[in-house]
Amino acid sequence: MTKARLRVGIVGCGSISLQYLHNAPLFGGVEMRACADINREVSVRRAEQFRLKAMDVDDLIAAPDIDLVLNLTVPSAHFDVSMRAIEAGKHVFTEKPLAATAAEGSRLAARAAERGLAIGAAPDTFLGPAGQLARHLLDIDAIGQPIIGTAFMLSHGMEHWHPDPAFYFQPGGGPVMDMGPYYLTMLVNLIGPVRRVQAVATSGQSERLVTAEGPRKGTKVKVGTPTSLLSLLEFSSGLQLTFGASWDVHRHSNQPIELHGTKGSLRLPDPDTFGGVVSVSDHGTPWQDIDTGDRPFGAPNWPVKSPDRANYRMVGLADLAASLVEARKPRASGDVALHVLKVMEAILVAARTGVAEAIVGEVDRAAPLTEERARKLLA
Ligand SMILES: NC(=O)c1ccc[n+]([C@@H]2O[C@H](COP(=O)([O-])OP(=O)(O)OC[C@H]3O[C@@H](n4cnc5c(N)ncnc54)[C@H](O)[C@@H]3O)[C@@H](O)[C@H]2O)c1
Repeated sequence: MTKARLRVGIVGCGSISLQYLHNAPLFGGVEMRACADINREVSVRRAEQFRLKAMDVDDLIAAPDIDLVLNLTVPSAHFDVSMRAIEAGKHVFTEKPLAATAAEGSRLAARAAERGLAIGAAPDTFLGPAGQLARHLLDIDAIGQPIIGTAFMLSHGMEHWHPDPAFYFQPGGGPVMDMGPYYLTMLVNLIGPVRRVQAVATSGQSERLVTAEGPRKGTKVKVGTPTSLLSLLEFSSGLQLTFGASWDVHRHSNQPIELHGTKGSLRLPDPDTFGGVVSVSDHGTPWQDIDTGDRPFGAPNWPVKSPDRANYRMVGLADLAASLVEARKPRASGDVALHVLKVMEAILVAARTGVAEAIVGEVDRAAPLTEERARKLLA
């Protein structure tokens, strides 16, 4: 039986569209057809580069030969573009965050469910072999019951590499909304939902100087959202975890994620990559390092920048395409993205009020993506 390919139209043809389009030919169940952007010139350039049809945004969303809208616009446009796509009867896969607010994210999830449409969301890095190995080790009780943990996303911001970084420093951006999804989605996939959040926040600078090459180089961007946040997360499982997210840090020595359980400890690589080394210690023995580079989606593959990266963005969308054929939920689901959005919003609110925020609603962990299933997604 030949499987029908999910016909995809991209809305938003900026930086990240390059990565999706570069990876798309790896996957058998999807076909990139068309692209659109409010900036027509940008969509025409992308269309020429990848042999797509350049369309107006409204036309792409309405097109009868498009099954899914891949929303790669800036965060402030996520809700509007995704909702219009759902209203037009399209499945949606969106870049993170699901929406600018949890209220908007809930409306998207509810409307997609009402219309019987799938909604999936980035990040899908947790489907990489590092995240899946860590999940397996937890599931086989390698470290016992996780008790405490740490997660740190510390860097010096985005203005040195992104040519148009203003949106990162406005509400909806900031290190928690922008980078939090990688850490929190990974943690929710490992541990399950978060039930309570406490936090503090500050900003290191009121303006940021753009040093990335491009037309904005040398200009300043106003900071309208905290750029350093420390939070305490209580998971429904009982795990307590410190999560630090900052764009005010020049250098540090903290591990991206560590979990400590009744029998041992587990260390994960940067959750913004698919591969890397997972380390495990049994009752305090020296770390046993397991390199996941030879597993599906584990090999470095991204030559443009960060050559150390396994960057297979598209796995989540390919799994969503398979989920439609198999009549199951996508692993990188809107439900998980909504839970993560609620946690991120709670971190920001708790930091403002100084009062702990309860997270309303639970979410199930996605089924593991076995190596066999991962291989099946490939063309
Ligand atoms: N750049 C990265 O490395 C990266 C990595 C992971 C995730 N993301 C996420 O991907 C998304 C896009 O980021 P980017 O870096 O590609 O941004 P970008 O600014 O390079 O591109 C966004 C594009 O969306 C277009 N756009 C904005 N509003 C629109 C609308 N209403 N309708 C149609 N087009 C619209 C813009 O004209 C622009 O071309 C963001 O949510 C970001 O968090 C980016």
